[in-house]
Amino acid sequence: MPDEHRYPDEQREAVYRVIAERRDVRQGFRPDPVPADVLGRVLAAAHQAPSVGFSQPWDFIVITDRSRREQIAALARRHRDEFAAGLPGARARAFDRLKIESILDTPVNIVVTCDRTRGGRHTLGRHVQPQTADFSSVLAVANLWLAARAEGLGVGWVSFFDERELAAQLRLPAHLEVIAYLCLGYVTGFAPEPELATAGWARRRPVSWAVHAEEFGRRGLPGEEPVDPIADVIAAIAPPDAAAMTAAQGRQDRMTKPRGSLGMLEEVSVRLAGLAASCPAPLPEPACVAIFAADHGVHAQGVTPWPQEVTAQMVANFLAGGAVVNAFAAQVGAEVTVVDVGVAAALDPVPGLLPRKIAPGTADFTQGPAMTREQATAALTVGLEIARDLAAAGNRCLVTGDMGIANTTASAALICAFTGADPAEATGRGTGIDAVTYARKVDVVCRGLELHRPDPADPVGVLTAFGGFEHAALAGFILGAAALRVPVILDGVISGAAALAASALAPDVTAACFAGHRSVEPGHAIALSRLGLTPLVDLGLRLGEGTGALLALPLVQSAARALRDVATFDSAGVTEKQ
Ligand SMILES: Cc1cc2nc3c(=O)[nH]c(=O)nc-3n(C[C@H](O)[C@H](O)[C@H](O)COP(=O)(O)O)c2cc1C
Repeated sequence: MPDEHRYPDEQREAVYRVIAERRDVRQGFRPDPVPADVLGRVLAAAHQAPSVGFSQPWDFIVITDRSRREQIAALARRHRDEFAAGLPGARARAFDRLKIESILDTPVNIVVTCDRTRGGRHTLGRHVQPQTADFSSVLAVANLWLAARAEGLGVGWVSFFDERELAAQLRLPAHLEVIAYLCLGYVTGFAPEPELATAGWARRRPVSWAVHAEEFGRRGLPGEEPVDPIADVIAAIAPPDAAAMTAAQGRQDRMTKPRGSLGMLEEVSVRLAGLAASCPAPLPEPACVAIFAADHGVHAQGVTPWPQEVTAQMVANFLAGGAVVNAFAAQVGAEVTVVDVGVAAALDPVPGLLPRKIAPGTADFTQGPAMTREQATAALTVGLEIARDLAAAGNRCLVTGDMGIANTTASAALICAFTGADPAEATGRGTGIDAVTYARKVDVVCRGLELHRPDPADPVGVLTAFGGFEHAALAGFILGAAALRVPVILDGVISGAAALAASALAPDVTAACFAGHRSVEPGHAIALSRLGLTPLVDLGLRLGEGTGALLALPLVQSAARALRDVATFDSAGVTEKQ
C-alpha cells in the first residue's frame, strides 16, 4: 500500500484542522498567564523545525517584563505612525481601524532570531543560498504558531520594527538577526478568517491561482485541466444584476431629493449596484490607479516630437511621485502602481513598480505586426493578473492609467480597426503636433490598416497588429476587474482603445466600466460611443497617465455613498411632492 504510513483519519484531520484554524491574533487576548509547561511544549515544537544543513540557526528570547515590552511597543508605535502617514486616504482610514500588535495585551512575547554563521562555512545548502538560514528560522516560527493553536494560544506576528533598533533594545549579539517578534496569550476566540480579510483589507487568492503545472503560468490544480486565465476571466464576466439595478433605481426615487436630480450620478449608482449584484453597492474604495507603461515601434515613423526615452523618464517620475497623476491620486486618496509591460529600457527595481516586461517595446506596425500573438496573450494575462492582485490587496475600485510615447498613434489604429472609423477622424494630435506631423500620423494609421486589414472579430489579432503592450495589458486589466465585479474607471483614448478590445472579447465587460472623462483626442469619443459609455468629466484633458479617470473617482464614490447613506422619504419623515 503506497499510503501505509498515513495517519488514522482523525489524526490527519487534526493536522489539517490546526493548519486551517491557525490565525494571526491581535484582538481578544486574555491576561491569564501561560503555564511554563505549555510554553515549553510550544518552544520544543519550534525547535523541531527543519533547517538548512541541520544548522538550527534559531534562538528564542522569551520576554515577559512589562517595562521592556513598553519600550518595544513604543518602537512599533512609531513605525505604525510612519506607515500610516504614507497611506492614501481610504487606506489610511481602514488602517486606522486595524490593530497591528498586541505587545502589551499578551503576557508573553517571543523573539525568534537567526544565526547565519552557526554551523560554520560548510553548512550543507547554505553555501549557495545564504538566505536559507533565515528560511529555517521562519519554519521554526511556523511550527510554534501551529503548536500554539493546538494549545489554544493565540499568536500575533509584529513586523513594525526597524530591525537594528529592536536588536539594540534586546541587546542581541551582532551576529544574530531578528526573524520574528511574536505575541502569545490565551484568547477569547479564534476568528474563522484572517482579520485582514474580515476587515476588507485583503482577500484570499483561490488556490488554483497559485498552482502551476510544470511551468510558471500554466495554472491549474492537479487532476484538473490547466486553467486558461483569459478564457476563465471571459467566462466569469456576467451581465449586470437586473434585480439590484431595479432596487437601486427604486431607492434613488425614494431618496430625499427630487427624482432624477442627481442626473448622471443616479445612473452611476444604479450601474454600481448592478455590477455588485447588491443594493446599495459597496463603496468603491480604496482605489488604485495602475499605470501600464510601454514603448512603440511606430515611434520610428516620426509620429511625435517626443523622444522614446521619455517613457522611461516618466515612469521614474511616477515612482518618485512627481507627475500630475501622483498629485491627483494624492488629492483623491488613490494608490499609484506602475507596471512596466514593455518599456524600451531596463528599469531599476523600486517599490511601486511591477516588472512585467513582455519585450522592450513593440515592433513598427507599418512594417509588420506590432507583436506576436503569444506576446498579446501574455500582455492580456499580465493585465488580468494585476487586476486580481490589486483586488486581492483590498482595492474596490481600479483606475486605468498609461504611459507610452507614440501610444495615441497605436490607439487611433486600434479604434479604427474595432469601429471602422476613418483614420482622419479617429487620429488626434496627441501631445500636440504640427500639421506636417499630423498628416504623417494619419498616413501611418492608414498604412497600418492597409497592411494588416484587421478583423474586429479577432480582438487578439487586432492587438497583435497594432499593439501596444499597454493596450493589451489594459484590456486584460479591464476584463479582470469585470470578472471580479470590481468597477474600473477608464481614463482617455488609450483606455478607450483597450476597452474596445476587452468588449470585443467579452461584451458584458462594459457593465464594470465607467468612463472617467472625455479626452480631446477625437478617437476617444468614437470609442466611448461604441462602448455606450458617457464620460463623467469633460475638461479638455489630453494627458493620459490616469489623470482624467482619477478626477472622476470622487464622483463615482459620491454616487455610491449617496445611494447607501441618503435617507428615504419614509425613513426621514419628509413629505413628498404631490
Ligand atoms: C512575516 C509576517 C509578518 C507579519 N507582520 C504583521 C504585523 O506587523 N502586524 C500584524 O498585525 N500582523 C502581521 N502579520 C500577520 C498577517 O497579517 C496574517 O498572518 C495574515 O493576515 C493572514 O492571517 P492569518 O495568519 O490569520 O491566516 C504578519 C505575518 C507574517 C507571516
